[in-house]
Amino acid sequence: MSTTQTRQVTKAIFPVAGLGTRFLPATKANPKEMLPIVDKPLIQYAVEEAIAAGITELIFVTSSSKRAIEDHFDSNFELESNLIERGKLDLLEIVRDILPAGVSCAYIRQQSPRGLGHAVLCARQLIGDEPFAVLLADDLIDGADGGSCLQQMVAAYAMCGGSLLAVQSIARSESAKYGIIAPTPASAQQTLLSLSGIVEKPQPAAAPSTLAVVGRYILAPRIFDFLAATAVGSGGEIQLTDAIAALLQREPVHALRFTGKRYDCGSKLGYLQATLVYAMKHPEVADDFREYLQEFVACQK
Ligand code: G1P
Repeated sequence: MSTTQTRQVTKAIFPVAGLGTRFLPATKANPKEMLPIVDKPLIQYAVEEAIAAGITELIFVTSSSKRAIEDHFDSNFELESNLIERGKLDLLEIVRDILPAGVSCAYIRQQSPRGLGHAVLCARQLIGDEPFAVLLADDLIDGADGGSCLQQMVAAYAMCGGSLLAVQSIARSESAKYGIIAPTPASAQQTLLSLSGIVEKPQPAAAPSTLAVVGRYILAPRIFDFLAATAVGSGGEIQLTDAIAALLQREPVHALRFTGKRYDCGSKLGYLQATLVYAMKHPEVADDFREYLQEFVACQK
């Protein structure tokens, strides 16, 4: 295989089996990944980001309560016929564009909630021996002019190879919510960093840096060997971070300080912030919503 072939990323895993307990009761019967930001579910934003970055095979690691995700990416004959009959062709286009031609979906069940590392391992047979992306849909990332987070990563990965993680700076007090990287001293100030270590959810005093992994990864297939050998870690789950820590003893792992803003849509506050920002950019509601907000803020003074 040539270098360019091995550095092409065409498959992405979407771990969507989590219970979404931070968003109960909304997530009792609805997958958290189906919560909308304005008019699109979170999972669709992640899928669009993947497709824009060149991904053509989408692999969803699901659980029994996630049927709505499969339905969302399937065609809906009844709805489409109804829209055609009523001449609502703009809506028809929106519905049909959810999954562009040339992009395929595969679904695999994670039988029990054993953590992110276990979810990724479930997709091993569908990935085979090639690098792949992992996108966590509740991390909604609003990319900058330089492209979406995964597009920026694919461009960096073409240069560095190995494995690549998206990172952002956080307050040290927040470290126990994230995988935290230890960059090599020589690369610590750079945009593309080399890793000497990574720890899942360390307490602030033990955090090796304030650079946190957010939900975008490009991983070498060798990660599966380490995932298969990873014992239960933080939170009683099999952690992807622990397998990455083992991988980087053997081959290079880099981290990219991407440009853009990440919203933690698994938390109520992050979800509300994203809703506000995306509403302010939405062509249909932006003007009215901005006017409403200005009035609202004025009334609060
Ligand atoms: C997961 C990962 C963690 C990462 C985070 C990003 O944690 O385990 O390393 O920093 O996603 O959102 P979770 O938020 O699922 O607990």
